Amino acid sequence: MTNEKNEFIHEERNGLKFRPVLHALTSNPGIEMMSYAAGRENMITLAQGEGDSPTPDFISNAAFEAMKNGKTIYGPTLGQTPLREAISNYYKNIYKINVPASRIFITASGSTAMHLSLAALVDKGDEVVAVTPIWKNLLGAVELTQATTRQVSLNHSDEKGWTLDLEALFAACTEKTKVILVVSPSNPTGWTATHEEMKKILEFARKRGIWVLADEVYSRLVFESKHEHLRADSFLDVAESDDLLLVVNSFSKTWSMTGWRLGWIVGPPEAEEKIRDVALYNNLCPPTFTQYGAIAALEQGEPFLKSQIDLWRSNRDLLVNHFKTRENVHMAYPEATFYGFFKVEGQPDCKALTKRFVDEANVLLSPGCAFGKTARGYIRMCFAVSERRLIEALDRMDKILKS
Ligand SMILES: Cc1ncc(COP(=O)(O)O)c(C=O)c1O
Repeated sequence: MTNEKNEFIHEERNGLKFRPVLHALTSNPGIEMMSYAAGRENMITLAQGEGDSPTPDFISNAAFEAMKNGKTIYGPTLGQTPLREAISNYYKNIYKINVPASRIFITASGSTAMHLSLAALVDKGDEVVAVTPIWKNLLGAVELTQATTRQVSLNHSDEKGWTLDLEALFAACTEKTKVILVVSPSNPTGWTATHEEMKKILEFARKRGIWVLADEVYSRLVFESKHEHLRADSFLDVAESDDLLLVVNSFSKTWSMTGWRLGWIVGPPEAEEKIRDVALYNNLCPPTFTQYGAIAALEQGEPFLKSQIDLWRSNRDLLVNHFKTRENVHMAYPEATFYGFFKVEGQPDCKALTKRFVDEANVLLSPGCAFGKTARGYIRMCFAVSERRLIEALDRMDKILKS
């Protein structure tokens, strides 16, 4: 575009080059707060969803070996066969579920798994009904597809914690609904759908021809479980193999591999071809040598995971007991995941409160308004750090909580 003197006006020209959907993206208060705190010294950061333990050596060494053995070239679009088989065995051994390797698709992260799934399922104008509060990136991923999100909020009470009103979820589904999106266990609330709830959601979706997109990235981050191995209920426990169900998972949280960018999708047999098409034009294939580290994680990772869960359980209890002594702080008992999601009485503006924690306590947390419409006022705190760091953060926060 030019002005009256025939000069280029770059800003306007650049603005026109991008898709309108990018101009319309809703803000991301979590990222805004990270920028606000960037560069400050001596900050304790509990805003990111990861622990402070590095990836264990047995996983890294397996990836080095693969690299040295020439696993540095393109591979199959849906992942290395040995990894697809290792995940199938993992479901057999840990979940007691039979999922053949042909229904398992490796992706370059849980986030990519979500994008590929949405790209395969929804178009402009479709509706995604999402249980919230929810990780902001998933709302952003839907926005990019130009589908609309209808948010159905969990209810919260001090006695019952976070609960799902199934009738409200079903009532939110319309003719345009293509997908019901459920994150269980949930980031940020730790709410975990029961076997019965999953069954009812799938029955409803089956009747209506709606896809269920289940994010089970935190499936192993539970502190109690009725199963032989510590794990949450999975939609795969209640599904038929041909249900319209895509389950997303990731290596990030369970094995301290957030920087590796590896995840997977489990889908019905017919999904293999369609997800392959989308994945091919997206990334061609997931990184090759890292997949061999992932096999080591699946096959030898249980003792490491147990040590992580022991630390996080003890941190969870420490946090719960600490907040119990602060009458103005309200937090549901985190059943799962490594997040505390709390409210401070008389402090309805979570962005302003997060800023105060940064400015006055040198602690970076995530404002609840990043997690959907009804999460305003809450603050999310990741407790997957060393006990010493957690205690230091809580000490620093106290002067604000007491004021
Ligand atoms: C609910 C949920 N899904 C997916 C992810 C992303 O996982 P990945 O690191 O594999 O992209 C996260 C990360 O915080 C998450 O909280």
